[in-house]
Amino acid sequence: MPVRNFALLRAACVVLLMVAGASAHAAGDVARGKLLAYTCLGCHGIANYKNVYPTYSVPKLAGQHPEYLAAALKAYRSQERSHATMHAQAASLSDEDIADIAAYFAGEQLKAGGATTGTAPSKVTELCVACHGKDGVGIIPDYPNLAGQHGDYLERALLDYKRGARKNAVMPGFVSTLSEADIRAIAEYYAQQKPGLGTVARPSFWFTR
Ligand code: HEC
Ligand code: HEC
Repeated sequence: MPVRNFALLRAACVVLLMVAGASAHAAGDVARGKLLAYTCLGCHGIANYKNVYPTYSVPKLAGQHPEYLAAALKAYRSQERSHATMHAQAASLSDEDIADIAAYFAGEQLKAGGATTGTAPSKVTELCVACHGKDGVGIIPDYPNLAGQHGDYLERALLDYKRGARKNAVMPGFVSTLSEADIRAIAEYYAQQKPGLGTVARPSFWFTR
């Protein structure tokens, strides 16, 4: 009898832990994500850090939709989105790790519908605002925020969609008619929108943790 009671108690504990776990992970566990993101900060925690060969800025992640960050990490993990370094970074992450890391990096969300800076190129109004807004805030969580992102990263991403180096069901159709000059102007426009994405600060004593 005591043995059975113990088994019951243990089963009850497991259920409780599962319930607690499920609620914590539905939104992503920021504290756990911070621990897991330690190696990421070597690149994403340094303002203006560059990818080399080819050289372009490592994307800003703070203020991005967590859903988009998670989708991007899964795409690198499966190599649907190709980038050797990011594949190596994402390869061993579980879905739960990804949700937690995404919640940590995303932080406070950008709000849509704010004032815009500069004049939007006509192609932006024509082709992009329906999903990324005039202010560069994606209207649903699957559409990435572009506001304040590094201009050279945005330009690189758009050129990658155009030449088929970055695959996606939606984006290539919208960039196919853009010239390289259009792409540069659009990237510059979205990069200057404020408030925009930011770089997550690397803790100053991160190497002692
Ligand atoms: C050695 C530098 C480096 C490290 C370390 C690194 N990244 Fe990256 N990350 C990059 C570069 C460069 C890109 C852009 C790649 C591309 O063009 O697709 C990128 C892209 C991303 C993106 C896509 C952003 C977007 O707007 O689409 C996410 C999300 C991301 N990294 C998260 C992480 C996480 C989480 C880690 C740690 C597990 C990490 N990165 C570690 C360099 C790095
Ligand atoms: C129908 C909705 C839709 C429209 C319209 C659209 N996009 Fe996108 N955009 C997306 C989605 C979805 C993604 C994520 C794709 C992926 O995972 O690669 C994306 C990704 C991007 C990215 C990559 C962001 C990053 O952090 O890596 C850029 C840059 C971008 N879009 C710019 C544009 C521009 C410029 C236009 C207009 C010419 C445009 N988009 C039109 C839905 C849209």
